[in-house]
Amino acid sequence: MSLNLTDITLTYPDGDTRLTALDQVSLKAPQGSLTAVVGPSGSGKSSLLAVAATLITPDTGTVTIDDQTTTGLSRGELTELRRHKIGIVFQQPNLLPSLTGAEQLQVMARIDGRKPRTAHTRAMELLDAVGLADQAGRRPHQLSGGQRQRINIARALMNDPTVLLVDEPTSALDHERGAAILDLITRLTHQRATATVLVTHDPAHLTAVDQIAEVHDGRLSLQAANRHYARSSRTSHAPESE
Ligand SMILES: Nc1ncnc2c1ncn2[C@@H]1O[C@H](COP(=O)(O)OP(=O)(O)OP(=O)(O)O)[C@@H](O)[C@H]1O
Ligand SMILES: [Mg+2]
Repeated sequence: MSLNLTDITLTYPDGDTRLTALDQVSLKAPQGSLTAVVGPSGSGKSSLLAVAATLITPDTGTVTIDDQTTTGLSRGELTELRRHKIGIVFQQPNLLPSLTGAEQLQVMARIDGRKPRTAHTRAMELLDAVGLADQAGRRPHQLSGGQRQRINIARALMNDPTVLLVDEPTSALDHERGAAILDLITRLTHQRATATVLVTHDPAHLTAVDQIAEVHDGRLSLQAANRHYARSSRTSHAPESE
């Protein structure tokens, strides 16, 4: 099991009391599977991702990534774990304005201590995978919103993560571009065998989903996957760059 959350409870300080953002949540995400997380605003979706990303330590419960339990790891050890195992895609791409598409990705490898030449090859391979090989030399202001989000996704894959966590990647995009981004994430999940957990307002736009996790007031319930969607995804083709 690539990602395993067991009995997670997370509270935040709230005046004199504490607000329970996650209430005994458990979730398993195997390699190569896509979990959609849905639920109303404020229900705890981003908190769930932040715990899975080891960015927030829960009050109780365990997070296991590739059979390694994160409980008791030091800050440095958690940073290492994130660097090697976890890819994170937030709503806003947060690209560096002065860097080209290829450089945005290469920076990740520099941090990781890889050789520049290997990093360049890998960056180009990933840009190709997200349909942007021909835009590698462009800076963020020369790209569309959808293209920027593709670069964001490619960047999250630079360290070849086992777990890919994605928080509302389409909210800044129109319907068509949003659907293309969801298709892309689905395809990459299968190709790269990541355990992908994706927060989305609109799971209907997902072409393949293995499980739907619905969050309400910090409590999670799992819905069965739609097999029809899973079959149709295999015949889907690569999205075109916009
Ligand atoms: N850092 C924080 N400190 C205190 N309370 C917080 C913090 N972050 C989130 N909360 C609260 O925890 C609850 C869950 O928030 P969370 O951001 O996880 O919701 P969400 O489902 O992602 O919502 P949205 O769909 O609006 O992004 C909310 O009541 C929110 O106000
Ligand atoms: Mg959120």
